[in-house]
Amino acid sequence: MKRVADFICTAPAALRAVLAVTLLGSCGVCTAGDVEVGRMKAEMVCQTCHGMNGRGTQAMVANIGGQQEEYLVKQLTDFKAGRRQHPQMSIIAGMLSSDDIANVAAWYSRIVATFEVPGD
Ligand code: HEC
Repeated sequence: MKRVADFICTAPAALRAVLAVTLLGSCGVCTAGDVEVGRMKAEMVCQTCHGMNGRGTQAMVANIGGQQEEYLVKQLTDFKAGRRQHPQMSIIAGMLSSDDIANVAAWYSRIVATFEVPGD
């Protein structure tokens, strides 16, 4: 599976989508996102609300730092396609290309988040 994903992720963008759907039934496995390019996009577009570390800066902004890459790609793609709607995120995702989505997902998913349960 890993080798199939690598093959898909190194294919040209247009071919990649077709291959991913044909071979795997989804393109969520594609990990071709460029972390550094994603960082620049996050600085320009996402930082105000999600911070560079992916921690929401206001109560109603989701924490996305350390989130699964596939999940981030799916949510952003759903906002872009109108399957998920939110007054701010629908507009923002609508301005992102599929490469932008892969890159910002690579950035925010590479952040290491730790969790502690309440109590002793
Ligand atoms: C103007 C503020 C704002 C900006 C800028 C912004 N977001 Fe968001 N984002 C939000 C809010 C608010 C939500 C919660 C949406 C909801 O309630 O459904 C959200 C939700 C999300 C989610 C879904 C999280 C989940 O757990 O389902 C993702 C992924 C996301 N944003 C990514 C991004 C990325 C990547 C960028 C930059 C390209 C970005 N956002 C820019 C406000 C923002």
